[in-house]
Amino acid sequence: MDNADTTVKPEMFSLPDKYYLTTPIYYVNDKPHIGHSYTTILGDILARYHRSENVPTFFLTGTDEHGQKVQRAAEAKGITPQEQCDTTVVRFQELWKRLGISNDDFIRTTQPNHKKVVQEILQDLFERGEIYKDHYKGYYCVPCERFFTTKDLKEDRLCPECGRETSEITESNYFFRMGKYQDWLIEYIKTHPLFIRPVFRANETLGFLKSGKLGDLCISRPKARLSWGIELPFDTDYVCYVWFDALINYISGVGYRQDDEKFKKWWPASCHLIGKDILTTHTVYWPTMLKAMGVEIPQTIFAHGWWLIDDAKMSKSTGNVVNPMDMIDLAGVDAFRYFLISAMTPGQDASFSQETFMTRYNSDLVNDLGNLLSRVIKMTLRVGDGVIPQHGEFQKAEYDLAAAVDNAIVTTSAAVDTMRLDYGMEQVMNAVRAGNRYLEQTAPWTLAKKGETERLNTVLYCSAELLRIVSILLDPVMPEKMAEIRYALGLSKDQTVQFNVSELRKFNSINVLSGLKVRDIDALFPRYVLPEKVKSKPVEMIETNTEGVALIGIEDFSKVQLLTAKVLEAAKVDGTDKLLRLNLEVGVEKRQIVSGIARFYTPEQLIGKLIVLVANLKPAKIRGVESQGMLLCAKGANGDLKIITVDGEFSSGASVG
Ligand code: ME8
Ligand code: MG
Repeated sequence: MDNADTTVKPEMFSLPDKYYLTTPIYYVNDKPHIGHSYTTILGDILARYHRSENVPTFFLTGTDEHGQKVQRAAEAKGITPQEQCDTTVVRFQELWKRLGISNDDFIRTTQPNHKKVVQEILQDLFERGEIYKDHYKGYYCVPCERFFTTKDLKEDRLCPECGRETSEITESNYFFRMGKYQDWLIEYIKTHPLFIRPVFRANETLGFLKSGKLGDLCISRPKARLSWGIELPFDTDYVCYVWFDALINYISGVGYRQDDEKFKKWWPASCHLIGKDILTTHTVYWPTMLKAMGVEIPQTIFAHGWWLIDDAKMSKSTGNVVNPMDMIDLAGVDAFRYFLISAMTPGQDASFSQETFMTRYNSDLVNDLGNLLSRVIKMTLRVGDGVIPQHGEFQKAEYDLAAAVDNAIVTTSAAVDTMRLDYGMEQVMNAVRAGNRYLEQTAPWTLAKKGETERLNTVLYCSAELLRIVSILLDPVMPEKMAEIRYALGLSKDQTVQFNVSELRKFNSINVLSGLKVRDIDALFPRYVLPEKVKSKPVEMIETNTEGVALIGIEDFSKVQLLTAKVLEAAKVDGTDKLLRLNLEVGVEKRQIVSGIARFYTPEQLIGKLIVLVANLKPAKIRGVESQGMLLCAKGANGDLKIITVDGEFSSGASVG
């Protein structure tokens, strides 16, 4: 097993020739919250993975500094917009520094080279008739910085994006001929399946594009109304619309119209990472703008979901924000990075609470990973003279451990490609847990007592090898802590270059550990003591739930057929406020069930969910409606119900057990 088996190469994700990744450029109307941290950390991890594969990588982030939002924030404080930008941009830059963000550049839209590029593009499009002047009546939403026509608006003239009030505006303005690219864009999206991801977001954009005629885009603001922006080169009474200016950062940041060689090297972008709030601007405005400019379209726009607080989007405009600095103070930078990435499936929403953060911190990082490291180091110091030994022959326990680690290696590579870092990390943590079980099973203390040195040496070596591989796989996520693991194992902290992801083939493919002297370090992750309220909860539940419970064998359990089912339709059952009728897709079959969850879920909340169905329950009539099965719910102490759903995208009709 010692020789690297080069013929068995785990299927690594297909590596691009170069990798140019961007985050949105954030508004400087207020300081950053964990939503912004999430996108930037996700980007940082993707950039680090690619660099560790020796792929030339350029990672760009920055700030969006023009527009009404920023101007209003400045007015409220009685400072100039530039002062507002200059003070707030520091909050972003400081946070990225503290979070260890490895961006290659930081673009501010107020910087001269960006402004110049925007003006050149405007001039060019104007001269070529892609921009024209016209009268316009519309409704403006300041928080979204978007114009809408009457037909776009919700009732009471509310913004169709955020639901807030809009104001009516009539003026002369300049327009970009976006509408003429409608058919081209529909075709482009259809023929480029990787352009908008996840795929359901592509369908969302297509749905929007096909719902009616795509209008032209108003790209100017009269200075009389808004002065804080880039002046139109062909009419100094106007400034440029903030989104038209902002999107251009993705090309002005890599040399467009400034440095042809640089631009050619990085463009088209490999991926624009964004939140789902800015899908339309990125998947409709941006590609049509590029098309008009004659510039290539980016490869992928990936829209992730939102971090929610109490079911509402965390947002600067609503103020329900969590300050990332507070969370870092609580558990450290690496733990914060780990939590944000492991607790959200990109594409879907997730809820943030300090309680879930710290509970996960204690379980994954303290109990599983930190504990494994301290066991291995202490054991090696006490029974192995502090030196990682040569291993003896492998037995089943070692092959099982190796299988768990190899799975983590392959999954991590694939996870970067499929944007399922959460899943990749889960597999790495599964390998860590396999490591803890391995130590329990092989009982090195007993081996030492019995003098079974060869077996003991194998166990010490293999558990150290597991930690070495984990430290490489999680290096992009937790760079500081993983360097500490390598240091504890006797490697030097900066040996990441020599031991990067692409050099990892499989467990024990090279032996760099035997003979190294381990170093005793403080706990990798100090335990966090959860506040009383949180601490007492699980204990109570364990006591009340286990008492007097009759045990069943697996044969009893297997009598229950549990299947995944997708909710296609949901509606209230007439004459009751408790029951919902659900129409389900269960593989190729359709089913109808009645469920007492109407007080906890609206029908709309259920549609599209993948639930767990007890499929072989005898059919029953409930209030005259036939129910062909039952869905599974968790019941809270206060009578609350939460439906059991299946994590991630998955098929219906799959067995659960
Ligand atoms: O829209 N959950 O800037 P912005 C997850 N300047 N991510 C979140 C989030 C949440 N609750 N809240 C914000 C703008 N984000 C424009 C962009 S790009 C050319 C111009 C993240 O300050 C997410 O990435 O409102 C979202 O798309 C972005 O911050 C919006 O930041
Ligand atoms: Mg926003």
